[in-house]
Amino acid sequence: MKINILICVSAVAISVTFISCSSSKKITASGTPTLKEAYKNDFLIGSALNSQQIEEKDSSAARLVPEQFSAATPENIMKAEIIHPQWANYNFDLADKMIAYGKKHNILINGHTLIWHSQLPAYARNIKDVDSFKTFFNNHITTIASRYNGKIYSWDVVNEALNEDGTMRKSIFLDKLGDDFVTEAFRLAQKAAPDTKLYYNDYNIEQPKKRAGAITLIKKIQAAGVRIDGVGIQGHWHLNKIPLKEIEESIQEFSALGIKVMFTELDIEVLKRDFQGADVSQRVASNPELNPYVNGLPDSVQQQLANDYESLFKLFLKYKDKVTRVTFWGVADGNSWLNGWPVRGRTNYPLLFDRQYKPKPAYYKVIGLKTNSGSGESAKKPF
Ligand code: XIL
Repeated sequence: MKINILICVSAVAISVTFISCSSSKKITASGTPTLKEAYKNDFLIGSALNSQQIEEKDSSAARLVPEQFSAATPENIMKAEIIHPQWANYNFDLADKMIAYGKKHNILINGHTLIWHSQLPAYARNIKDVDSFKTFFNNHITTIASRYNGKIYSWDVVNEALNEDGTMRKSIFLDKLGDDFVTEAFRLAQKAAPDTKLYYNDYNIEQPKKRAGAITLIKKIQAAGVRIDGVGIQGHWHLNKIPLKEIEESIQEFSALGIKVMFTELDIEVLKRDFQGADVSQRVASNPELNPYVNGLPDSVQQQLANDYESLFKLFLKYKDKVTRVTFWGVADGNSWLNGWPVRGRTNYPLLFDRQYKPKPAYYKVIGLKTNSGSGESAKKPF
């Protein structure tokens, strides 16, 4: 009799826990916190989303994203060639769906990106006279930023304006508008989107020379009395070569400017390539030697990836008062742009979820930093 009552009481307890967990969708049935839950007092955890995912046509992502992530960035659909395909024609369809997706799932949306030299529509690339280019620049920023003011959390206002040595990158923006185009972009965005956070975003800006260039750029914006709220370090890094020292110095130096720091496009490349960074125009010819893990990732590499992610998140946690968001560039390995860049057709493994959307050892290490054990090993399976 006593035993019966006990079983009954615990069964009720279990079912109550399960109901409360499944209704909040923050903690899985096993009791293991998800990424966004584990880090909820530290920083937002985001993912880039492709259009299939924004439209909830990818059923695995439709389940996983709201459970794991508190922030999202559209991987492509807010870039100029898609959202502003012709001079007088905007295509807001997918961007509106992204905003609705965020609202529905309580996910903060970072707009990516207003001003970038890449993925520009042909008409914009071919504008010859300065006045027409200025009109395009003003209309583009004002129309898009004002439409989403109060609906979108933040914007990458300018993306990748710098060279590796810290000088300004040669682009149509620099060519037509001069050095001040970055400050002008922020000025226009501030006017059109007073309720939205405004960021500068770039890759390799943790590296000393490029970092110095970014600091100069940010100080220039501030000196003009224009608002900039944060800086995004993209974070396209390589296995066993995470520049932890440079990242730490960057967090300190950028935050000393009075702005927040984000890691906005995090992935760790496990395949070979002979250059660093994420210049999308750099391409390398396919070659089977550059694609060694078609049938799976060796355990040693999997472990190294997990260790690299653990070291990174330890550092992010050390600066959780300065770091406001960590966003992965893709949900699961099968979606990663690194399967197609800089070498086409590779099988890459840069993220926390595998091709079946199952958490990898790296996921457990990242979660493990926030669970009582302090190590990923004992974190239970989340599904
Ligand atoms: C990439 C996307 O992931 C690809 O799908 C697209 O073909 C090219 O752009 N830096 C950025 C991102 O700021 O917008 C880029 O995204 C990756 C590098």
